Amino acid sequence: MALPASFLDELRARTPMAGLVGRRVRLARSGKQWKGCCPFHGEKSPSFFVYEDGYHCFGCGAHGDAISFVMQSQGLSFMEAVSQLAAEAGLEVPKPTPEAAEAERRRLDIVGVLQAVQAHYQRRLGLPEGRAARDYLAGRGLTEETIARFGLGWAGERGVLTAEMARQGIGLDQLMEAGLIRRDEETGRTYELFGQRVMFPIRDRRGVIISFGGRILGSGQPKYLNGPDTPVFSKRRNLYGLDLAREGVRAGATLVVVEGYMDVIAAAQALLSGAVAPLGTALTKEQLDELWRVSPCPVLCFDGDAAGAKAASRAMELALPLLTPERTLKFATLPTGEDPDTLVRKGGAAAFQAVLDIARSPVDALYDMLRAEIGDTTPEQRAALWSRLTEASGRIADKSLAWEYREALKERFRASRFRPGQRNNKWDGKRPGAWNQAAVPRAPRAHLHQDGTTAERTRILTAILLRHPFLLNEVFQAYNSLPLDPLLERLRTAMDAWAETAEALDSEGLINHLTKSGLESEVHHVLAEAPMPLPACAALDAMPADATTGWWHIFGFLNVEQLLEEVELARADANRNLTAETERRLRALVEAFSKVRSGEPDGVGLVDA
Ligand code: UTP
Ligand code: MN
Repeated sequence: MALPASFLDELRARTPMAGLVGRRVRLARSGKQWKGCCPFHGEKSPSFFVYEDGYHCFGCGAHGDAISFVMQSQGLSFMEAVSQLAAEAGLEVPKPTPEAAEAERRRLDIVGVLQAVQAHYQRRLGLPEGRAARDYLAGRGLTEETIARFGLGWAGERGVLTAEMARQGIGLDQLMEAGLIRRDEETGRTYELFGQRVMFPIRDRRGVIISFGGRILGSGQPKYLNGPDTPVFSKRRNLYGLDLAREGVRAGATLVVVEGYMDVIAAAQALLSGAVAPLGTALTKEQLDELWRVSPCPVLCFDGDAAGAKAASRAMELALPLLTPERTLKFATLPTGEDPDTLVRKGGAAAFQAVLDIARSPVDALYDMLRAEIGDTTPEQRAALWSRLTEASGRIADKSLAWEYREALKERFRASRFRPGQRNNKWDGKRPGAWNQAAVPRAPRAHLHQDGTTAERTRILTAILLRHPFLLNEVFQAYNSLPLDPLLERLRTAMDAWAETAEALDSEGLINHLTKSGLESEVHHVLAEAPMPLPACAALDAMPADATTGWWHIFGFLNVEQLLEEVELARADANRNLTAETERRLRALVEAFSKVRSGEPDGVGLVDA
């Protein structure tokens, strides 16, 4: 019984190969795939490889996908294996209705038609009528082998296809279903979609032909024409070249998304075999999912002009919510005026590879995009930039990754204030060195799990900052490393944004700002003299040095390692450049650290939790 190909695809996509095989075979990571001893023949050294969508044994030749693995390893029939996997994947096996059978028959029929059409176009390319097209392709540097590998063909005079297909028993209706014949709405007359074009077969991830794109010879409009969506072809879901790129990626190539068909082909001919292209539209979410099924980190390649920048930021919009630690991207920018095809022709594979090698992480790309859009010099620009950066990182659905993005973006944002030569830091307390440290990814912050004392400590640390905001700048890394409850988190976010742009870091200004931002009750909660009175260092009239020491003292009970790190940093700063300021900071930290080490109570830990 035939099951719809779409269902089987979904089933394969939802069945993690490594998880499935891993129940029977001990697997170890081996680059992008897994490796173990083959379950189908006795062996001691592993020659059985598991990929994202299949397995292959280099010892006995066993080969297949999730379904055949279950069949082979458990001796089940195809339908039994499908039922078992479907149950595990939470999918319902479609009932074999007459409609489903009919839809499947139509699919197979369309694919069969497309194959016949492809053979026809390929043959015509070799005939005398294909001469101009052959010259054109040769002129663009394609070898015979490349032309054959991509199955390129020629659609010359209209009408010939229809006549030839009729001879093979393929009717107009079938050609219409396959998207090769259109009907003029006004006149009702039918015509062949492609005429006088070089034909590019479009194949799905498994290499099955699902449609065609056609390029005009030389100049003329439209330059490329693609077949319409049909029961087998969806522009949103497929990528040109994915079948060959999957093989390439397995062999170690980088998966890279370029703009055009010719870019894919030129890259492949230069032995950069991991290139794919969208089908005449901007990249879609479905295409991103397809890419991530092949590689955890595809590179998106954009033109070096304004249109390319726009396309990049659209792709960023699309990808942000979907990013996870295992599904990420890189952004590459081409030299202005070049596409991968021209680049490879001028400078060979190395020229394109160089562009890929310096592709940027999403954090860097995002920061640069927003900075280019908003600017980062005036206070207004900086405030707007920071708010957009926070908003963007907040759109990442994976919460721990979102947090890391926020931190990494913040580091860049802060660093931009200290760019040498740009302007002077308006506060003392700056963190020397912070701006030129690349953002080192840190482990996700410990999950929020607080006892009463910890909660009280974080509240009081916040209170001290409300009363002595000059500290914000010098404790920002430590303060930001703390897990906070949502109420304090709201304040921290608002204080951060304020500190970026405030003219002066004074308590009155800060509290006014927070009140205006609708955080009055939060401020109230933090400054309350309950459940316990605030310590002296949180009082408005505390000496700055006492506020500083008090803050680090309390912090030290929450994260002594980081306190120690801060001491080391301050020591290094003071050694490098001894000023009243670096000395004050070092003294405060050393004092706080020795209090923590000797166990001197910070006045908070005594609270009954
Ligand atoms: P480009 O205009 O950048 O062309 O279109 P290209 O890839 O450099 O093509 P060559 O090198 O001149 O042959 C990029 C992609 O946009 C789609 C096609 O998918 C093309 O590969 N496109 C372009 C269309 O769908 N229709 C068009 O008229 C033009
Ligand atoms: Mn081009």
